[in-house]
Amino acid sequence: MTTSPEGAELVTASPEETEAAAARLAGHLGRGDLLLLVGELGAGKTTFVRGLARGMGLEADVMSPTFQLVRVYPGPLQLAHVDLYRLSNTAELADLGLEELLEEGVVAVEWGDRLQGCPGVRVRLQTLDPDRRQLRLEGAPATWSW
Ligand SMILES: Nc1ncnc2c1ncn2[C@@H]1O[C@H](COP(=O)(O)OP(=O)(O)O)[C@@H](O)[C@H]1O
Ligand SMILES: [Mg+2]
Repeated sequence: MTTSPEGAELVTASPEETEAAAARLAGHLGRGDLLLLVGELGAGKTTFVRGLARGMGLEADVMSPTFQLVRVYPGPLQLAHVDLYRLSNTAELADLGLEELLEEGVVAVEWGDRLQGCPGVRVRLQTLDPDRRQLRLEGAPATWSW
């Protein structure tokens, strides 16, 4: 897999723009793709997943999975939405069944940096000011872009 150069960056000026960027990226996704979303609270990770779901044509009410570690949105290509914010131990991580979820479709993981040593594509979201976010793709195939 070739990786895109550093600098696959985009600045969005509203949640709608972040959703739209994610919806465009969804067009590149297929079964077995793992997206690790990295960014502080409020950076826009959940907003991003909402856009992914829309771009994948899924009728999904995307919210942060508060008590569950994972929410699955079924469709021709399934989207599993994982949030590791409240992850308390690694046994829980093993229970997640990541392999199985990847066999069924795309997996997007909020706080993806907590998945150690996983070969996924990183989407870094950084808050620049109240309305602007910088999105950066790392480790993505060269054909992926914003
Ligand atoms: N450019 C932007 N992109 C994404 N979210 C934005 C943007 N500007 C403002 N916001 C706001 O920031 C918050 C992001 O929340 P959320 O997606 O839940 O973040 P996270 O899941 O990273 O904690 C929302 O309230 C959203 O309306
Ligand atoms: Mg969130």
